[in-house]
Amino acid sequence: MSAPRGYRVAVLAGDGIGPEVVAEARKAAEAAGARFGFGLDWVDYDLGADRWLRTGEALPDAVLGELREVDAILLGAVGRPDVPPGVLERGLLLRLRFELDLYVNLRPVKLYPGVASPLADVKPDDIDLVVVRENTEGVYVGAGGTVHRGGPAEAATETSIETRAGVERCLRFAAAKARERAGRLTLVHKTNVLVHAGDLWQRAAREVAEETGVALDYAHADAACLYLVSDPGRFDVIATDNLFGDILTDLGAAIAGGLGTAASANLNPDSSPSLFEPVHGSAPDIAGTGRANPVAAVLSASLLLDHLGEREAAAAVEAGAVAALPGAAGYSTQALGDRIATAVAGGGSPN
Ligand code: IPM
Ligand code: MN
Repeated sequence: MSAPRGYRVAVLAGDGIGPEVVAEARKAAEAAGARFGFGLDWVDYDLGADRWLRTGEALPDAVLGELREVDAILLGAVGRPDVPPGVLERGLLLRLRFELDLYVNLRPVKLYPGVASPLADVKPDDIDLVVVRENTEGVYVGAGGTVHRGGPAEAATETSIETRAGVERCLRFAAAKARERAGRLTLVHKTNVLVHAGDLWQRAAREVAEETGVALDYAHADAACLYLVSDPGRFDVIATDNLFGDILTDLGAAIAGGLGTAASANLNPDSSPSLFEPVHGSAPDIAGTGRANPVAAVLSASLLLDHLGEREAAAAVEAGAVAALPGAAGYSTQALGDRIATAVAGGGSPN
């Protein structure tokens, strides 16, 4: 008999609605583990606004060291109005992306049955694409500075850094993803203005497409916004830089019915651990009201299971979440999470 499978998953529930949605994601993953025969050993970390206000630490080195050893990380949301903007975003979330070298931010954009898109006349099959956002370079590196601060000569720079190696590994992941899907890769950039970085991306994309046999298309970032609204079916896999990917995926979430179902995976495809989080933030305005939609967190847990190689479990969690979506607004966070977990456990749809 083979040894039982088990995974250690660090949980950074974080702030606002983070803990509420993560609790439901855990339930769904647990139900999948019970059904498909693996165990999940959750390790909770109290990182976030409270910890920072108490100790001034966003991500202590010792904790980072522990996080390097787990199989995966599930994150709820970070940020609260009583913490200055940027402190937790840069100090916790972006630091994890950089330190763990999570160079792909994979964001599915999928319209599920029973979810209303703001676009007229679209059916679920019309919106089904994935964005592969480069996740460790671009303007996010924090290169730059301010001189003559506060004076009339004040100047600020924010330097975007793209490396051949960084761009290429992201494109290789995107091409592999395209091969699993419809085989179509669209590079999104702004080569008509950003001629240096754009040229690097363009040449690397052509080479990777040629090598891997995927059909390569190109759209400027502004045009890609237009197409996402006017003709989302033209996209299969989009590969793009960090900032364009950030912006495009909020638009992607909007056309697919909002942030309630937008999941993401921050991946290092070559070594563990990777980090999984809903695209939405901490939503302090609805925290504690039971109104947060846990589906984005549940779908992030599905991506986590998939990355661990638990394909059937991942599919069951996604199916459970999707089955619970029609009429989801009528349920509390916890009630919806219970319906999803029941569906995952039993393999049927909730009533
Ligand atoms: C996201 C978020 C983050 C980003 C913020 C919170 C730093 O908007 O994951 O899309 O800009 O990447
Ligand atoms: Mn964003």
